[in-house]
Amino acid sequence: MKSNPFNPNSVVSTNLFAGRKDYVLRIVRKLEQVKKGMPSSFFLFGERGIGKTALAKLLIYIAETNDAQLGGLNFLVSYYSADKGQSINTVLQSSLNELTDNISSPVLEKLGKRLGSLLKNGKFSIGAFSFDLKSEEKTIAVRDQLISILSNLIEEIKSEENDKKKDGIIVVIDEMQNIDDIEACAQLFRGIITTLDVKNLGNISFLLIGYESALDDFFKGDPSARRQFDSVGLGVMPIEESKEVLTKGFNEAKVKWDQASLDKYILTTGGYPHSIQLLGHNLIEFDIDDFINDIDWENAIKHTATELQKKDFAEMYNFSGKISGREKILDVLAAAWQPLSRQEISKYTEIKNVYQYLPDLEKRGAIKINQENGTIVLHSNLFRMAILMRIIDKIKDGYLNALIKEKVENGKEEKT
Ligand SMILES: Nc1ncnc2c1ncn2[C@@H]1O[C@H](COP(=O)(O)OP(=O)(O)O)[C@@H](O)[C@H]1O
Ligand SMILES: [Mg+2]
Repeated sequence: MKSNPFNPNSVVSTNLFAGRKDYVLRIVRKLEQVKKGMPSSFFLFGERGIGKTALAKLLIYIAETNDAQLGGLNFLVSYYSADKGQSINTVLQSSLNELTDNISSPVLEKLGKRLGSLLKNGKFSIGAFSFDLKSEEKTIAVRDQLISILSNLIEEIKSEENDKKKDGIIVVIDEMQNIDDIEACAQLFRGIITTLDVKNLGNISFLLIGYESALDDFFKGDPSARRQFDSVGLGVMPIEESKEVLTKGFNEAKVKWDQASLDKYILTTGGYPHSIQLLGHNLIEFDIDDFINDIDWENAIKHTATELQKKDFAEMYNFSGKISGREKILDVLAAAWQPLSRQEISKYTEIKNVYQYLPDLEKRGAIKINQENGTIVLHSNLFRMAILMRIIDKIKDGYLNALIKEKVENGKEEKT
């Protein structure tokens, strides 16, 4: 049996990672600065399945690999995924202990002598104080412990011999929305980063990852932290990148493909990495002749669509028959792959009064309206895929083609 390289439930391996070049370059360029002692941190946000963890995995690979073409980075990196209800203290303690796996034992020994009870038997331990401290005092004590650990650690790894020498530290924390005291995080990180910077030990980067709601909570706790943290919003992939995900996987599975089928049906993924993986998986499963063509696409789409439409979307869109103004608006939003203004929706649906439909669509959870600029998007990319699969045959016959030409195929991508 041929192997199936696509899997929507695991994190893609580095060799099958596709696209996202602008994001990678933007972050790698900043990491080159961190290497020189100028701290820089990031909050990577976006909805579930948009590719945050996959991007982080690639960045970690680049940051550790010392590839001359990608900045020659050689950082000490930890990755930790927060569980629901965890406090930032326990998350950071675990992150530090992740780092120790890659620290040489002479360095650990030296650190142990300097850090006393903070590093015992090769394990970091923070936040152990007497109960009579007030909670603000505890927060400050934790911060000072972290500063003490990190400054000693950075100093040591920077001054190791030749090939053991590191550029600094990158702490990656995924699923930030799970952290209980997220509103206390920004101030904590800002204090740490600033102090290390002043001590000329600014070789540190935090890469935080989570939903947009987590980003909001994070900066609500300390708006000034925006100076230390770049917000990086991950959106759907442009068409060419979406195709690249599939062709890399096809090559890995050693199957050939009909390019015309790929060009036509790629639209059904909405550029959403989770959907691309799901469809890719089903394409490989349905194919019997090692050649992915229209028949495989139609089977895979039919199979995936029934699964999706059975889920929560029945209340939001009539998948079985009658097309009303509501479906037309949702079709337009699905085909666009990006937020649209009311005027644009009106133009492409040819419905004059789109306003009358929007409150109900929002209430049912089908759309989200951006409070700042009034643009409208579908509630989720999974919903988008369910709609696109439903209308792909009509699109082939010309439905909404003007919109797709103007908005999607020209690669006009919405960036945050
Ligand atoms: N650039 C990419 N190239 C190939 N596959 C990707 C890419 N980004 C994400 N994926 C795949 O899409 C799925 C969802 O991505 P993931 O990183 O888990 O999303 P998130 O962390 O935002 O929830 C995973 O199977 C992942 O491997
Ligand atoms: Mg993830």
